[in-house]
Amino acid sequence: MTYSIALVPGDGIGPDVVHQAVEVLDAVGDRFGHTFNYVELLAGGCAIDATGEPLPADTLEAAKSCDAVLLGAVGGPKWETLPGHLRPERALLGLRAGLGVYANLRPARLLPQLKEACPIKEDVLTASHPEGKATFDLLIVRELTGGLYFGERGRSSDGESAFDTETYSKTEIERVLRAGYRAAAVRRKKLCVVDKANVLESSRLWREVAARVAPEYPDIETTYMYVDNCAMQLVRAPGQFDVIVTSNLFGDILSDEASVLTGSIGMLPSASLGDPDTSNVKNGKPVTMGLYEPIHGSAPDIAGQDVANPLATILSAALLLRYSFGLEKEAQAIEKAVELTLDRGYRTKDIASKGAGLTKEKIVGTVAMGKAVLEALEAVSV
Ligand code: IPM
Ligand code: MG
Repeated sequence: MTYSIALVPGDGIGPDVVHQAVEVLDAVGDRFGHTFNYVELLAGGCAIDATGEPLPADTLEAAKSCDAVLLGAVGGPKWETLPGHLRPERALLGLRAGLGVYANLRPARLLPQLKEACPIKEDVLTASHPEGKATFDLLIVRELTGGLYFGERGRSSDGESAFDTETYSKTEIERVLRAGYRAAAVRRKKLCVVDKANVLESSRLWREVAARVAPEYPDIETTYMYVDNCAMQLVRAPGQFDVIVTSNLFGDILSDEASVLTGSIGMLPSASLGDPDTSNVKNGKPVTMGLYEPIHGSAPDIAGQDVANPLATILSAALLLRYSFGLEKEAQAIEKAVELTLDRGYRTKDIASKGAGLTKEKIVGTVAMGKAVLEALEAVSV
């Protein structure tokens, strides 16, 4: 089967890491008999330099016409002084809204190979884990195309005050909740709605919608938590969480917090999903438009130096195969290959010396890490 993937390498280390993910995708394609056709698109700072706009109209159009989008990172100090609507970050917001990818899945899992990188003490971890293990595995489902990021904003005419607005419709809340329930159904069947319902009217609407939707998922336990408490619980007892569903802004903040718990932001992928497109069926399954990107930023200080960790982007490619194309075996092959690569001792600088009891770490650069994953891919079975 042939699939089209839009590549948006972006700025900084974006091109370094996207290139490695493409190598891995091609190897998976060879092994499982798929063809991935790529279209490379400009967005972010590089698009500002080339066209004057962070998200040129033809980038969005071309991205929409593909089956899925793989993005590296956007932004950098060079463009930081530009006005808000011209900053590279606008490209991200424009892609999210334009592609309609409203559910942002941000997994945060403590990998056994990187246990020592976790800043939380072992006894704190075990205390909150349902089986008393020193680990956690949670998924933040962040609403991505509404709320404070897209609400009305502005300044008063005298410039003395400014405002941003949190607006959510029942439809927006319901669809992201359902995305959370679908995820929880294939995980540990727990879903926690995180909000600020003791203060915000929009949060009270979230609870109202959740109370209506929850009974449709009787085997999933639904709980509610205020966001301030959740921020605390994440460092106090992360093992209690399975799926967290929350608004755009709260999800932005909590996902950064969760990522640092894993001790390896260079390892974390993310997926932003819209609805399955029933007019685009491949392999008997409707394709779901998705935007896939590593959680980390563009790290301009190490761009082009062959030091960036490509694993988050490679793992994002795995999510792309799973969620957009329904290619579960292929996704697992990549995930297993990454684990095997870590087991074999390969580390980029950012995750070096963090392997539990590992004496023979092989510190490698971006390209060599990509190659190590390709080698591992040949060895894994699914
Ligand atoms: C993220 C980032 C973006 C966001 C920025 C770069 C606009 O922090 O993806 O979490 O706030 O959504
Ligand atoms: Mg963020």
